[in-house]
Amino acid sequence: MDLQGKTILTRRLRMVPLDLDHVDAILEWANDPAVVGNSQFFREPSDRKRIARFILEHETADDCAYFAAFALEDAGYVGNVFLLHINRLHRHAQAGITIKQAAWNRGYAKQLMRAILEFAFTDLDLHKVYLQIFTTNEKGLGLWTRIGFKIEGVLRQHYFVNGELHDMYSMSILRAEIGD
Ligand SMILES: CC(C)(COP(=O)(O)OP(=O)(O)OC[C@H]1O[C@@H](n2cnc3c(N)ncnc32)[C@H](O)[C@@H]1OP(=O)(O)O)[C@@H](O)C(=O)NCCC(=O)NCCS
Repeated sequence: MDLQGKTILTRRLRMVPLDLDHVDAILEWANDPAVVGNSQFFREPSDRKRIARFILEHETADDCAYFAAFALEDAGYVGNVFLLHINRLHRHAQAGITIKQAAWNRGYAKQLMRAILEFAFTDLDLHKVYLQIFTTNEKGLGLWTRIGFKIEGVLRQHYFVNGELHDMYSMSILRAEIGD
């Protein structure tokens, strides 16, 4: 999606559209197992070329809004937050977030998720935002529950990772549920 240089400010963060300037930033976490253990794409080792390809694909996709986030305090890179599969007919999109490990537990994910939901429900006029999460991802589950996402169901034995089949929760939040 063409985000036309859109910048979103939260209390402590600045979100800018992801572009090729962010290759080195993403490399800060792309090969950290604690961060990418729950990711589909980043489970494979990543170098500059692979990340650049990833950025270009997401930058040019019409159904995608991908932001990199920086702390206002010191301009340091914090992580990414995004919407994928944006569907204007059904007015829904899939959300995701990655924060580099050194920036965990400072409330950044909460701020970024609230900002991307505001973008989804106000700027894009969507009705529903959803995601899938490994049932074992306690930190992620804590985050989504705190924001107001609800479990819709279990995708049983949905992914084969590290030699095992894993269940996923399907979670979502509706526009009217923001602030619940
Ligand atoms: C999950 C992730 C985004 C959280 O980022 P973060 O910036 O550390 O999260 P925050 O500090 O904003 O915490 C947000 C909420 O998450 C919950 N949370 C944080 N750590 C938790 C833990 N260890 N267990 C359970 N809940 C936890 C809390 O409810 C917290 O809100 P609160 O402090 O007001 O209670 C980050 O750890 C990450 O990028 N992990 C790897 C990628 C990933 O798993 N993404 C989500 C996949 S769907």
